[in-house]
Amino acid sequence: MIFVYSLGGSILAGRDAQSLKEYAQALKELAQEHQIFVVVGGGRIAREYIEKARALGASEMFCDTIGIGATKLNSALLVAALGDAAPQEIPDSYADAARLARPGRIVVMGGVAVGQTTDAVAALLAEYVHADKLVVATSVDGVYTADPEKDPAAKKLARMSFQALARLAMETEMKAGSRSPVDPLAAKIIERSSIPTAIVLGSKIENLRKGALGGHTGTEIRRE
Ligand code: UTP
Repeated sequence: MIFVYSLGGSILAGRDAQSLKEYAQALKELAQEHQIFVVVGGGRIAREYIEKARALGASEMFCDTIGIGATKLNSALLVAALGDAAPQEIPDSYADAARLARPGRIVVMGGVAVGQTTDAVAALLAEYVHADKLVVATSVDGVYTADPEKDPAAKKLARMSFQALARLAMETEMKAGSRSPVDPLAAKIIERSSIPTAIVLGSKIENLRKGALGGHTGTEIRRE
């Protein structure tokens, strides 16, 4: 099967070398039986650098370029952790990513175009390579009925429809205090192509396998 991961940048960059190796090992094991693509986010460096550049008067578009740089830096760290299992080339396009794919090889990429996030890149890549599943390995452990930090009655959803995800992403866009794990563009792509998607806590290594193959405790986005 073909799996595309959207991996939050903070999930990788916060790890020491040994822990990065363990994370990479889990991906390598999956790659023995499946074709794996990983899209890595910008994490803390992206946020810090963008904030400073913005304060210096940089345009939003230039800030996005800085963000893309951070995603590539984090991607390079994962490539280093994967060793021979990943090409030392970080593709700039979906076509290049598909071209680099080989059995047992893990293709790692970051951002590709301004005005979006790596969740959208991962969703578009999933469309392009006809992925069987998109796994959003992120800093939250699923989608909740309300913000769990503010509402103690908030419940995690085990399942959600494509339409409900798109709706949630649009609503979240309008208000601060994000409850949507993906941005509206990514949600729209997931919806239009009905890409089976798992939202899982990315810091748990076992969620890499479980997000793709099942058995996780996050949220599954699928046809209801
Ligand atoms: P992320 O995908 O990490 O953004 O890309 P994010 O979703 O805001 O970060 P998290 O998930 O909350 O940690 C970092 C930044 O890089 C730029 C955007 O500015 C984005 O905010 N970027 C990334 C692009 O402009 N285009 C891309 O294709 C990817």
